[in-house]
Amino acid sequence: MKIFIDSANINDIRTAYDMGAISGVTTNPSIISRENRKFDDIIADVTSIMVDGPIFAEVLSLEADGMIKEGRKLAKISKNIVVKIPMIPEGLKAVKTLSSEGINVCVTVIFSAPQAILAANAGAKYVAPFVGRLDDIGENGLDLAQEIRDIFDAQGITETKIVAASVRHPVHVVELAKMGVDIATMPFKVIMQMAKNPNTENAVKKFLEDWEKVPK
Ligand code: E4P
Repeated sequence: MKIFIDSANINDIRTAYDMGAISGVTTNPSIISRENRKFDDIIADVTSIMVDGPIFAEVLSLEADGMIKEGRKLAKISKNIVVKIPMIPEGLKAVKTLSSEGINVCVTVIFSAPQAILAANAGAKYVAPFVGRLDDIGENGLDLAQEIRDIFDAQGITETKIVAASVRHPVHVVELAKMGVDIATMPFKVIMQMAKNPNTENAVKKFLEDWEKVPK
C-alpha cells in the first residue's frame, strides 16, 4: 500500500519525502488554510518536492461548470496534479468531463459504497472514503474501506484506486494495508507514529551505551 501525506506543510512534506515514506501529497481547503500562505506558493513548493508522484488539489465550486473550469486550471499547473472533486451530483458531472479530457480526478468526501460505485463509473481515477470521520460519528470507517475494496474486486475495477483518507492512527494504516486498499493518506504525525517505537529507541540507546564499554 502506498502512503500519501495529507498536508500542505512544506517542512513535513519534505521530511516525509526524504524518508522515502510517501509517494503522493493530498490537500484540501482546510489543510491549505492552516499554512497561512497563498495557495499558488504552496503548490509551487509542493511540486518542487513531489516531482514523481500525484499532488491532490481540491476545487471550491459547487456547480459542475465552475468545478470543470477550476479543474482545468489546476491540471495546467503540473502534470502530476490530481483534481479533487466533492462527491455531489454536480461533482460527478465534472468528473465525467474532466476525466474524458485526460485529467486525473479524485472523488473526495466519500461516506458510502454507493457513492464510490458512482464515482468509479463517472471516470474517477481515485475514490477517497473518509475513514476517521465515520469513526467520529460512531460508525466504522474501516468497514466502508473494506466494502469498497470488496466491490471493486468483485467488479474487476482496477482503473479506479482507493485512497483511504481521514486516517487517524497507525492501526488504521495496518488494517487498510491488510485489506488491500491501494493508498492511505495521512497527516505527518501518523507517519512519525508509524516510524517510532520505544523499544527501537531503547535498543539503539543500549547499543551505544554498550559500545562505550568496548576497549578502544
Ligand atoms: C483527504 O484527502 C482529506 O484531506 C483528509 O484525509 C481529511 O481528513 P480529516 O478528517 O482528518 O480532516
